[in-house]
Amino acid sequence: MIKIKNLDKSFGELHVLKNVSLEVQKGEIFGLIGKSGEGKSTLLRCINLLEKRDGGTITLNGQAADFKRSREVREYRKGIGMIFQHFSLLERQNVYKNIAAPMECWGYSKQEIDEKVRELVKIVGIEDKLYEKPRNLSGGQRQRVAIARALSMDPQVLLSDEATSALDPQTTQSILQLLRDINERLGITILLVTHEMEVIRSICHRVAIMEHGEVADCGKVSEIFLNQPGSLKRLLGETAEVLPEEGVNIRMVFKETEENRSLIPDITCATSVRFSVIYSRLEKFRDEVICTTMLNVQEEDLAKVTAYLDTLNIRWEVALHE
Ligand SMILES: Nc1ncnc2c1ncn2[C@@H]1O[C@H](COP(=O)(O)OP(=O)(O)OP(=O)(O)O)[C@@H](O)[C@H]1O
Ligand SMILES: [Mg+2]
Repeated sequence: MIKIKNLDKSFGELHVLKNVSLEVQKGEIFGLIGKSGEGKSTLLRCINLLEKRDGGTITLNGQAADFKRSREVREYRKGIGMIFQHFSLLERQNVYKNIAAPMECWGYSKQEIDEKVRELVKIVGIEDKLYEKPRNLSGGQRQRVAIARALSMDPQVLLSDEATSALDPQTTQSILQLLRDINERLGITILLVTHEMEVIRSICHRVAIMEHGEVADCGKVSEIFLNQPGSLKRLLGETAEVLPEEGVNIRMVFKETEENRSLIPDITCATSVRFSVIYSRLEKFRDEVICTTMLNVQEEDLAKVTAYLDTLNIRWEVALHE
């Protein structure tokens, strides 16, 4: 759907994107996460041609984004909807006018516009706000208007740049649910940029982690969390965990399945080792649940326990003290 190959972009001396390659499949929600200033917004702006790239190729649905005429650029952009953190609404215009604006630019008839606006407000759940001005809306409602506007040209792709960053956790969840609905019901591919792991966890199929203008790791979200690459740890920040200083702490990460549910007693039975469970928590990733468990074992029992974990293919590592 979107194919980015060897994308390069500098602002003067600042090399922002270095040889970035990514492929977003049709129908997926793809997350791009990274610390502030890593070039995420720049990448989105390169995709919709608001920013000129220095090198590399961008292909949308098999069509290379190399255009000579502004008319071609406009046609290309028509296929891409975009939403932002600060909504970018026309403050003096009401909701209806805001949603209608792109269609008016493209010369749609009054009737076409009216039908589309009414259909869109239903999809995003703000039918009762049609004639309100943006200032009378909550942040979540404003983002719904922006989403409706982004969908007005029937795009194949929706680019979202920190669309939930200005919203409280509950509103964030409702907007994420809306994006998921749009993806599933309308089949729109979504590429979203965020610095919030929660966004990635709750709706993305796949994720790319950006570091220093490069894609450090990319893959299915639950797999990335199972594998815990260095880029993910650096992003999450090694929060100082309170761990026992005696013995060895083992962090295990595994999919929560029927057979893994009895893992702790299974370890005890198989190894006859006494150990303590420091914590165990479940996290949801779209439709999968991943369990992280921290054990504390005696130094002399470490090999026995980890050998058993290896036979079960459970990923583990020794957690170090701060
Ligand atoms: N038009 C510009 N001119 C010069 N430098 C720019 C321009 N746009 C972005 N930059 C620089 O490029 C780098 C990447 O910026 P970008 O906005 O893409 O980061 P980001 O990953 O989206 O960060 P954030 O998470 O804070 O939104 C930053 O150092 C920024 O200062
Ligand atoms: Mg940004």
